[in-house]
Amino acid sequence: MGTLDGTTALVTGAGAGIGRAAALALARAGAAVVVADIDAVHGIAVVGDIEHERGRALFVAVDVADDAQVEHAVLRAVGEFGGLDIAFNNAGIEGDPAPTHECTPENWRRTIAVNLTGVWSCMRHEIPAMRRRGGGSIINCSSVAGLVGFASIPAYTASKHGVVGLTRAAALEYATEGIRVNAICPGVIDTEMVDRFSGHDAAAKAAMTDLEPVGRFGRPDEIADAVVWLASRQSSFVT
Ligand SMILES: NC(=O)c1ccc[n+]([C@@H]2O[C@H](COP(=O)([O-])OP(=O)(O)OC[C@H]3O[C@@H](n4cnc5c(N)ncnc54)[C@H](O)[C@@H]3O)[C@@H](O)[C@H]2O)c1
Repeated sequence: MGTLDGTTALVTGAGAGIGRAAALALARAGAAVVVADIDAVHGIAVVGDIEHERGRALFVAVDVADDAQVEHAVLRAVGEFGGLDIAFNNAGIEGDPAPTHECTPENWRRTIAVNLTGVWSCMRHEIPAMRRRGGGSIINCSSVAGLVGFASIPAYTASKHGVVGLTRAAALEYATEGIRVNAICPGVIDTEMVDRFSGHDAAAKAAMTDLEPVGRFGRPDEIADAVVWLASRQSSFVT
């Protein structure tokens, strides 16, 4: 028996990287998983990976910056699997690297829309579904850039600080209703996002390991373990 048997989880940005690893780990723990991503090819492949391991999954195409698409994804989760218990609001983009005065309005708006407004939009639709279920666990994906400053990614850094604040507010609002709201703040994790951020330059990527005290990048499955724990009753006093 898995720790999440009988539950339904929604994972945004589940087509790659941290989201993919979390979707697989949640399914292995017994959850039925809604794989939500803007990229249908990768998202459908993740559903195949989960089903290959005899898990239950469903792909829903969603741009988290579009509130109506987010609402549709939550409705599909409830419609297909009977309710919503777990949400990993993970979809995010790094945006175009540039110092603050060179950050374009388009880059600013899109990064905030996906990384911050997208998380709020997800919670806006997930919370009523979890209330109907009598509780739930929301895990928002912030970043170490939500805790300290990072040069040349001002919109990303601001958006991830925003996710921490939003998480803190919502955690207080729903604590007595059995809905726990937490944020994870990963360090550098070896995903396509980091490949893009380092300009696909092996030397630049290797230099980034200096940011990590353990001397290497994290792996997506190491973050997925934290997500499964926060989703489970083993973290019942954590919000
Ligand atoms: N990789 C890291 O070092 C790191 C560190 C800290 C935090 N994070 C955060 O973790 C999350 C996942 O990052 P990753 O490294 O796995 O990224 P990734 O680029 O490898 O994967 C991101 C996934 O999100 C999807 N996505 C992008 N925009 C979307 C949108 N508007 N709507 C729905 N899906 C969308 C992509 O298609 C992709 O499948 C992000 O929020 C990121 O900011 C990453």
